[in-house]
Amino acid sequence: MTTERKASLIIEGREPAEFPIMTPTHGNDCVDIRTLGAKTGLFTYDTGYLSTASCKSKITFIDGDKGELLYRGYPIEQLADHCNFLEVAYLLKNGELPNQQQKGKFEMTIKQHTMVHEQLVKFFQGFRRDAHPMAVMVGVVGALSAFYHDAMNFYDAEHRNISFNRIVAKMPTIVAMAYKYSMGEPFMYPRNDLDYTANFMHMMFGTPCEQYKPNPVLVRALDIIFTLHADHEQNASTSTVRLAGSSGANPFACISAGIACLWGPAHGGANEACLNMLEQIGDVSRVDEFIKRAKDKNDSFKLMGFGHRVYKNFDPRAKLMRKVCGDVLTELGLENDRLFKLALTLEKIALEDEYFIEKKLYPNVDFYSGIVQKALGIPTSMFTCIFALARTVGWMAQWEEMLIDPEYKIGRPRQLYIGAARRNVAPIDQR
Ligand SMILES: CC(C)(COP(=O)(O)OP(=O)(O)OC[C@H]1O[C@@H](n2cnc3c(N)ncnc32)[C@H](O)[C@@H]1OP(=O)(O)O)[C@@H](O)C(=O)NCCC(=O)NCCS
Repeated sequence: MTTERKASLIIEGREPAEFPIMTPTHGNDCVDIRTLGAKTGLFTYDTGYLSTASCKSKITFIDGDKGELLYRGYPIEQLADHCNFLEVAYLLKNGELPNQQQKGKFEMTIKQHTMVHEQLVKFFQGFRRDAHPMAVMVGVVGALSAFYHDAMNFYDAEHRNISFNRIVAKMPTIVAMAYKYSMGEPFMYPRNDLDYTANFMHMMFGTPCEQYKPNPVLVRALDIIFTLHADHEQNASTSTVRLAGSSGANPFACISAGIACLWGPAHGGANEACLNMLEQIGDVSRVDEFIKRAKDKNDSFKLMGFGHRVYKNFDPRAKLMRKVCGDVLTELGLENDRLFKLALTLEKIALEDEYFIEKKLYPNVDFYSGIVQKALGIPTSMFTCIFALARTVGWMAQWEEMLIDPEYKIGRPRQLYIGAARRNVAPIDQR
């Protein structure tokens, strides 16, 4: 990274103030305005961080115009083709893909951490059975901080590794427990003879009465879903984890904050909304009617699963997810599934429609992921929990990157105060 070029800021006839321009590997150059306040007495105003880089990062890069997503430089398509989710987790955390020996060791380590403390199991009983599983996740993952606090020197790499291994290993167990609890079924203990994703499916769909036999096609499909959701630059939940962690807080509490942020329909809740929309449309014969509604400025209806803040060409994850969707439905003999046919018709009509072409609205990852998860037997209310499980890897990698960054500071935005000017308190009888 070079900082030789400069940007000048001219403020109302004063001498120009100069700021270094930072050049990234890919993406937009950044003006380094850290000294703006000291040099000029001014702050910048940027709600939603539309033009603000909040950190340097080496983990993930998105090119929205090209429709490209890179994890540590590797295109998502290649990772989905050649690697499993745990290899991707290793890559995101350590910066390089594991070799055979490192892969084996990492998988073994994760297996050794999959069980949760028996006392934590009792924690679930405190929730109502009809609680939203994401509410349960926020509580239980936050509670991990009360159980695993023996390795809390975050300036020690080994302590950070222990936290990473623990949370990545325990997330499938906790997500499956949240599901089993909502169903009133017994919790299933992890099985070490299964790999990460097959074991998760065993804990979700197995019962003590019958040995669960994972279907390799379905396991692979879910594993790819995990990979596609593992990280996505500085989005709302990742920034939440970083901000919470910037005070030196416990990492499990930070992940719980990330889960809370992810829960919202504008973020992780979109695939649930997409499936609800397909159910609302109901039949291929009603697609035209809903496309018309989506284009009507006076109608609040939007095509859920279409459009993205960053991807303005196509979402590379959507392309992969479309294929996974086809594989899963074929494997389950659901090629003629009503919702899938409906989704394909909707996709075709929207992609040919002038309104969607002009506004660069393409299907995003959520358009297909809901259909796949439904076909796998995962209920709609669990979709965001699956997202949280996968994204935990990215959150932890980003949390660690922040802690070891020599330029790291506690996050503390400024504000543009527009409230009442200074005034005096009147005695109560004069108010
Ligand atoms: C994702 C999303 C929030 C991106 O928003 P954005 O980048 O801020 O873009 P905007 O909301 O400003 O949309 C630009 C234009 O396209 C229209 N538009 C965007 N998404 C649309 C959709 N899904 N259906 C119909 N019109 C849509 C907007 O109404 C707007 O029209 P205008 O220029 O006439 O005002 C938005 O596309 C959306 O709400 N999509 C549906 C929800 C979804 O699938 N979210 C998951 C994201 S992974």
